Amino acid sequence: MLRAVLKPGKEKKVKNFYPTVYADELAELPDEEGVARLFSAEGEPLGVGYLEPKARAALRLYRFDLGPLDPDFFRTRIEAAARRRAGLGPHHRLIHAEADGFPGLVVDRFDRALLVQVRTRGAWALKDRWLPALRSATGASAALLVPTEYARRAGLELKPRALWGEVPERLVVEEDGIVFEIPLALAQTKGFYLDQRENRRLFEAEVRPGEAVLDVYSHVGGFALRAARKGARALAVDRDLAALGVLDRAAQKLGVSVDVRSGDAPAVLAALVAEGRRFHRIVLDPPALAKSPRDLPRAKRLFAELLGHAFRLLEPGGGSGSPPAATTSRRPTSSRPPAARAPTPGPASGWCGSPTSPRTTPGSPRCPRPST
Ligand SMILES: C[S@@+](CC[C@H](N)C(=O)[O-])C[C@H]1O[C@@H](n2cnc3c(N)ncnc32)[C@H](O)[C@@H]1O
Repeated sequence: MLRAVLKPGKEKKVKNFYPTVYADELAELPDEEGVARLFSAEGEPLGVGYLEPKARAALRLYRFDLGPLDPDFFRTRIEAAARRRAGLGPHHRLIHAEADGFPGLVVDRFDRALLVQVRTRGAWALKDRWLPALRSATGASAALLVPTEYARRAGLELKPRALWGEVPERLVVEEDGIVFEIPLALAQTKGFYLDQRENRRLFEAEVRPGEAVLDVYSHVGGFALRAARKGARALAVDRDLAALGVLDRAAQKLGVSVDVRSGDAPAVLAALVAEGRRFHRIVLDPPALAKSPRDLPRAKRLFAELLGHAFRLLEPGGGSGSPPAATTSRRPTSSRPPAARAPTPGPASGWCGSPTSPRTTPGSPRCPRPST
């Protein structure tokens, strides 16, 4: 087995169970890729993971002792993840990479079918050890491999394919009474964003009848449909026509109406500004904008552009939120020009709030207080 050694003083984060070791933290880094044991500079054993010597994240740890990465180990991890999600219903994110001690693997469960994202070379190289365990521990009748941008960046040329069984042509997902029929081709590329369900619920609880709601990067309209169900006038924006088609069918089944616009979100927002439109609530839920540090400048520019448009579109006193990765703030009720009030975007984390339940205090670094 390969052996990697940390530089002196770098062991603290690993002892605190941080699973990623960067190349510049290693004093000894073999040229070869594969399963490796990690030791401190003093020779203390720290864990076992998969080593990619050419990657910035050179070692991803699966365990914090020197035990084996064998099928039994992975079965235990998968069963523990499944236990954590018991009670979440038939559709949920079953394995959430590092959060479940499984770097590089994300698995979404749609009842009897699994969508499996392999995001790292390590997870792919070790598949013969975890795939049988995934099948037996879940009892799923089918699993589909879903290629991701992460895998492509890791140099893995994965194509969508059945890992076992036959995944149905259409995944039917029911979320709190809203039924989405998702064609497999869309599920393969985008899935369903199961991890946003709680945000969608919180959002619905806050929407009031008669409000104007804008759901940007809507995908299948999880936020917009809930708003419409509360009696709001909802507009959904996405560039994926297949996703908007799913939204349309879900709206029909639910007996509500949601307006849609397809196109590039910043351009659509600019058009809405030009039309003089106003909304009480705006959701901005872009895809991951920065997958590596080199993406940050472009991501910050796009964030600033999106927020600039959003603040021009907000009714005075309205709220804008970006559930997974953004900053937001409330538009003040004074009548100064909105452009003057748009705050500087903060770091890409957290949800800064909505009119009724701010999660971060306005005025904190993450949620800048608009100037009045
Ligand atoms: C994180 S998902 C949104 C999830 C959604 N809010 C939900 O709760 O299901 C991001 C969405 O952005 C869309 N998208 C990506 N780039 C876009 C762009 N430039 N303009 C408009 N939509 C875009 C994708 O099609 C995808 O549906």
